[in-house]
Amino acid sequence: MSDSQANTNEPPETPANADEGDWLLAARITDDRPASDGKVKTISRQQIDAGEDFAIEVLLADRVIAVFRHAGSWYAIDGMCSHQGGPLADGVVRDGCVTCPWHGWQYDLATGIQLINRQPLQESFLIRQLADRIEIRLT
Ligand code: FES
Repeated sequence: MSDSQANTNEPPETPANADEGDWLLAARITDDRPASDGKVKTISRQQIDAGEDFAIEVLLADRVIAVFRHAGSWYAIDGMCSHQGGPLADGVVRDGCVTCPWHGWQYDLATGIQLINRQPLQESFLIRQLADRIEIRLT
């Protein structure tokens, strides 16, 4: 089982492991329209509650991460396609897979496995939703 298969989709009131320093703020959840304060992206709570699928790209510790909300679950994988660096957060998501917008390589959102050669070409990460934010663990 990959790390992202253990992603946590239920927002606890407080972090289960609040003492750990490995979780990084990826985005804030707000009751207003999505916006960015220049550093941290925001996601609207209504968008999440409505069950919409969407994706955002975030920069964490100098890494580009593609964050997906798909079929009620969160996923986080390396945001730059292993083929030639295409932006996976801009790809089409269907049935748990994202298709790179540049040349069509496809990856499983939970594992980062490329669907043709079945290799884990994209790194996947733990992701969790808390009351007011989305956090990702890179290690
Ligand atoms: S850059 Fe993604 S398929 Fe080519």
